[in-house]
Amino acid sequence: MPRQHHVAQLFLALTKSIGRQSANQELNWMKRATHAGCLKEMLERRVEGEPLQYILGTQPFGPLDLLTRAPILIPRPETEHWAIRLAELLQPTIERPLSVLDLCTGSGCIPLLLCHLWARGSTRAYGVDISDHAVQLAKDNAARCGIPGVASPHHFSNVYTPYLANVLDATFGDSLPRSFDVITSNPPYILLNEYHQLPRSVKDYEDPRALLGDPPDIPGTDGLAFYHAIARLVARDGVLNEGDQTMVVLEVGDKQAAAVEAILKTEGRLNRTEIWLDPWGKERVVVGRRK
Ligand SMILES: C[S@@+](CC[C@H](N)C(=O)[O-])C[C@H]1O[C@@H](n2cnc3c(N)ncnc32)[C@H](O)[C@@H]1O
Repeated sequence: MPRQHHVAQLFLALTKSIGRQSANQELNWMKRATHAGCLKEMLERRVEGEPLQYILGTQPFGPLDLLTRAPILIPRPETEHWAIRLAELLQPTIERPLSVLDLCTGSGCIPLLLCHLWARGSTRAYGVDISDHAVQLAKDNAARCGIPGVASPHHFSNVYTPYLANVLDATFGDSLPRSFDVITSNPPYILLNEYHQLPRSVKDYEDPRALLGDPPDIPGTDGLAFYHAIARLVARDGVLNEGDQTMVVLEVGDKQAAAVEAILKTEGRLNRTEIWLDPWGKERVVVGRRK
């Protein structure tokens, strides 16, 4: 079959599945992403249901253009929205720097955005993930964004160090490299019954460990296992600094905000909490502060 003919058929199939306007837009992006492979192969993968971001290999996140690789979670627009809000809220400087711990860091999108938007030399960030592929992607993204993994006495730059660890491990808090001003996380929070209803483009390509809020080895059905672990962590002496900019910022799933507020107050000993909405008006983030 002539190549052009095959491409036209694939495009028609894509139009049927996602509509003409979206298909046209995606075709233009694929044509521009010549590094990602030949158009026919890209269309074949897309028609099979693979997310466009894995095919193109990149995804914008605020001003950044981050690498994406299956099965690491593709950064979502709701995460981008609150990460930009956080970047605008706090203004660290070289004289008043901030240390950041991003739990369940995935591609590294959250700390890399903060490192990019905050003043040079103002931010020392760490990221933790249980997946070595995620840690490698976060390192590759840091290199792509020009953010070093170790501090240098010769350059005033922000630094981001991703490392492998299990946030749910009871001993996780023993091995932290330092204390922190800001703890961020977009942890897995989806319930098992919601997971089964996710579109194939998510379930077949993204790591279930990145999505399921109740890991198989932990009892519970409310998707809140990570919030309990994070709250217990921040309540430990020496994990959170005392400063006036100190805060814990957690993305939450549908209808989880009130429960996570209660967890941060009771188990995390954070007296002041607030909820941030996403661009679609959903309660998406719980922020906790000591005072
Ligand atoms: C919802 S994704 C968030 C990724 C990224 N922060 C973002 O916003 O796009 C959750 C991440 O948590 C990681 N993860 C799952 N279980 C973990 C655990 N027990 N300890 C550390 N990381 C874990 C997954 O590998 C995944 O990268």
